[in-house]
Amino acid sequence: MTKQYQFMKPYQFANGAKLQNHVVMAPVTTQSSFFDGTVSDDEVNFYRMRSGVGMIIVEVANINATGKGFEGELSVAEDRFIPGLAKIANAIHSKGSKAVLQIFDAGRKTTKEILRGKQPHSASAVAPHRDPENIPVALTEQEIEKIIKDFGEATRRAIAAGYDGVEIHGANTYLLQQFFSPHSNQRTDKWGGDVYQRMTFAKAVIAEVRKVAELYAQDDFIIGYRFSPEELSKPGITIEDTLKLVDVLSEEPIDYLHSSMGNRKRTSLINKEDNETLNHKILHVIAGRKPLIEVGNVQTPEDVEEALRAGASLVAMGRELLREPNWIEKVKAGDEKSIRYQLSPVDMDLVGLPGGLQRELRTGFLNAMNFTDQKTTSFLNKFGQVEGFGG
Ligand SMILES: Cc1cc2nc3c(=O)[nH]c(=O)nc-3n(C[C@H](O)[C@H](O)[C@H](O)COP(=O)(O)O)c2cc1C
Repeated sequence: MTKQYQFMKPYQFANGAKLQNHVVMAPVTTQSSFFDGTVSDDEVNFYRMRSGVGMIIVEVANINATGKGFEGELSVAEDRFIPGLAKIANAIHSKGSKAVLQIFDAGRKTTKEILRGKQPHSASAVAPHRDPENIPVALTEQEIEKIIKDFGEATRRAIAAGYDGVEIHGANTYLLQQFFSPHSNQRTDKWGGDVYQRMTFAKAVIAEVRKVAELYAQDDFIIGYRFSPEELSKPGITIEDTLKLVDVLSEEPIDYLHSSMGNRKRTSLINKEDNETLNHKILHVIAGRKPLIEVGNVQTPEDVEEALRAGASLVAMGRELLREPNWIEKVKAGDEKSIRYQLSPVDMDLVGLPGGLQRELRTGFLNAMNFTDQKTTSFLNKFGQVEGFGG
């Protein structure tokens, strides 16, 4: 008999947008766009195969050429990208999911090579710890204003391409987070200063995105904001800073918050004595003012139910929906036993993972994907070459 899960019930945002269930696909970069950021057919197929969840947050797209973070990245920087982006939105709509496009500027988390000779930019001229030689150029006030407009233009294009919303990527150490971090933002003008002044950029981006949505979209257009709760760098973002950000965001004109974590039950990485989960603290501060999407190592239907019981409004999965594109269909059919929690490297084509993503999973995420065969040192990749697993 099919189980009656809470998460399979529809969800409605305060602005009226309706999701067919409470499951969200987390943004997962496939690194499979063409060289200039144009959508490839592999990407369209990847998203079509995963339609059926409540909402799919499409992998991050750059809002301008100088905000590009890596090769194979999707772009929403020019009108000519709209037709390709529309193909992804249509594919996502095929089984009723809402399509939300994640938008960003990578800031200092890129290289001169990726920017074809241009030095990366950031709030201040401070290099990231992991890349000390890569000192970014501090943005001028004029350039900051231009980037804010670019977020608005990206939103206009997402609307034109048929998306139901955008997610402002304020997480994972990209430009929005760089403005919030005391490590990368040492400005003394209105864009820097204390923890509240370091939110000025995020608030300006939200205001611009909201303004554009009001001009061009229906009332139920969804605007989300993703953030990372802590940074290990010193100085860096602490959970105390993040709780202040969450409090401010809870009053901003956005429709949801999304805490970015590898494990949704994570406690502080800095204060190891504190046993309260970060999401519990975050929910306490939000106090019902906005929905929170939780993510991180959620795999089974019971994991999703547990997150909802703990107070999450919606639950996102990344890696599990890479392994199992038919997750929702299988729950719906009462066929949970056949849900894949492991993935054979030879099935990566079968589950529709584009080539760029396959390469990434076999290297950077090798130990985090539950591959059935982690010892395999080589196999034929989709381009017919033999490749070794990286570290
Ligand atoms: C291959 C890969 C690509 C990712 N790309 C993005 C991205 O484009 N934007 C983003 O905010 N997070 C990205 N993430 C993080 C995921 O959205 C998610 O937060 C993380 O994988 C933890 O969730 P999970 O345990 O369900 O996979 C990526 C993760 C993976 C594994």
